[in-house]
Amino acid sequence: MKQEINTMNYFHVTLPAESPCDYPIVVGADFHEILSHLPEGRVFTKCVIITDDTLKTLYGNTLLTHLQHAGQDAILFSVPAGEHSKNVATYQHLIQGLVEAGCERGCVILALGGGVVGDLAGFLAGTYLRGVPYVQMPTSLLAMVDSSVGGKTGINIPQGKNLIGMVHQPLLVLTDVALLKTLPPEHLINGLIEAIKVFLIADYDSLLFVEAELEGILSGDTRLLQDVVARALAIKIGVVSRDEKERGERALLNFGHTVGHALEKVSDYTVLHGIAVGYGILVEARIAQILGVLTVEHLQAIDAIMARLGLHGHFLQQYDISEVIAATKNDKKVRSGCVQYVILQSLGKALIENNRYVHPVSDTVVQQAYSECVGA
Ligand code: GLY
Repeated sequence: MKQEINTMNYFHVTLPAESPCDYPIVVGADFHEILSHLPEGRVFTKCVIITDDTLKTLYGNTLLTHLQHAGQDAILFSVPAGEHSKNVATYQHLIQGLVEAGCERGCVILALGGGVVGDLAGFLAGTYLRGVPYVQMPTSLLAMVDSSVGGKTGINIPQGKNLIGMVHQPLLVLTDVALLKTLPPEHLINGLIEAIKVFLIADYDSLLFVEAELEGILSGDTRLLQDVVARALAIKIGVVSRDEKERGERALLNFGHTVGHALEKVSDYTVLHGIAVGYGILVEARIAQILGVLTVEHLQAIDAIMARLGLHGHFLQQYDISEVIAATKNDKKVRSGCVQYVILQSLGKALIENNRYVHPVSDTVVQQAYSECVGA
């Protein structure tokens, strides 16, 4: 599926089953070259850029000017940076903005930002006038390796993360890894953890690659970052193509997320999503080891790579375990009141048993895993 042309990587997502849909992903390292892939030949009644206040200055205004010079009727809305913008009030404010700007069904939304902007703008696109097209233009490593692809969109409510949302596939994904140059180092780690997650469940070779090249990746080496993005996307595209609506295999992409989402909630979203998933991986890998599925050696390898990223289990001692466990009860994988977890079998392989990709785990085991993590 992948072709290498100069410095660009091209991928294609093909969803044959329920949503006959096909869209390209372009991964490059030059903003203007990337912009040349925008569907300019297609006339949109309006191009609506959704971004955040920081990115508006960095890249949003350049994109707006580019579109206007290309003859498009383009406008831009920005929201405050951060997870708190993924809420009902911001969503409603943006919907009002689209109505007031006279956006019709022929418009296109351009989601220029990280996971927060992508999820919010994607949900806006999926629901405005019962659905308009949108382009994902991820600016964070987390959005590049994960959230910009696969069509998951949504917003948070006080009860939990992404509890309102839908699957709405983008028209196109345009990824420019050079944009990562302005990303704070913590956000590079944040995104890399989502890539490591995908490698842990499905790609041991890429896990070894990250271990070997970690310093270069964290120093922002563009070629290495492009490689990380391409490797993570190759896995993710395969999973999404086979199970767009998360009836089975796609749930594997939630490894580390059950505890991760709970940590985001109990920390009032002060812990970044990928970092929370990293701590979630530490706890959920321990669950697999306690259940006798994962070996101690593999657990130690996971602890070691997270430690190199600055994540240590004792960080978790500041949160009340019962509050964390209570927060997992709002996870979307709960069935008949029982929280279901992805269980890691080995480095690069998740447990799949009787066609089941997630498995019920008792609160006692989660509590033991959490406590062992704090003491590790
Ligand atoms: N971020 C997990 C998924 O797209 O399914």
